[in-house]
Amino acid sequence: MARKVPKADESYMDSLNNPRVNKTRGIKYAILEQVMRDNLYDDMNIIELFAGAGINTGFVLENCKPRNLYLADISEECVTELKRKFDHMSNVEIKCTDSFKDYPDMVNCDFLFLDSAFKFSIIERFKNLFDYLSKLDNNAMKICFTESETYKFTFLKKEEVQEKRQEHFNKLIKLFSDMGWYTEKLYFCSSNAYLVLTKIPNGSGGTEFIEYTQGSDKWKKYAYEQKGSDLI
Ligand SMILES: C[S@@+](CC[C@H](N)C(=O)[O-])C[C@H]1O[C@@H](n2cnc3c(N)ncnc32)[C@H](O)[C@@H]1O
Repeated sequence: MARKVPKADESYMDSLNNPRVNKTRGIKYAILEQVMRDNLYDDMNIIELFAGAGINTGFVLENCKPRNLYLADISEECVTELKRKFDHMSNVEIKCTDSFKDYPDMVNCDFLFLDSAFKFSIIERFKNLFDYLSKLDNNAMKICFTESETYKFTFLKKEEVQEKRQEHFNKLIKLFSDMGWYTEKLYFCSSNAYLVLTKIPNGSGGTEFIEYTQGSDKWKKYAYEQKGSDLI
């Protein structure tokens, strides 16, 4: 019988078979795909920390031909999967490392994906990485940052959801603005928010908020079926 609740010690690879989690996964990747369509182009230097099973990477390679693509994850199981899918590509570097402590130089990076499970309650873990991003001298780079606390607003009374969620989004925007990063767009679904961050604000100066309620099963193509050679 299909398992409905995640186990506390469930690994990311195990979670790919969890139907409860996979309900929202289609919407999350629909958002990430839109971010890629709007921002990725050939010859970019792209870094993905928290690269997991390489689902995001599958979408990246569908949307552009990067000059260099750096993938890192702390889990050996995930790194084995990343290597199975992408190690044959000469422009891809894969590392098993703790991305809160060890990350590559980002001075020449064009796009950075940070698909970790950020929550304000664990902000201390991000301190080194955030300090680095605050000081980084790279006006061309953009970041797609995932936060994973938005789900908690679904437990509120219907009339409270919008106001409380907006307060939360404003807090996230302020967090990055204090680090010198401007939130160009904030995509959200019932479980997560995705912030597209830039060093230089666009003309209007405001953040665009975009809600997603629909996704698809397309992510499964990059989770399970894809053989490395198909991705070239
Ligand atoms: C939400 S998943 C990322 C999914 C990924 N973007 C994909 O498309 O498959 C978060 C990942 O962060 C990894 N992770 C957790 N802590 C980490 C750390 N300290 N350093 C690097 N990776 C970490 C987990 O192993 C997990 O694979």
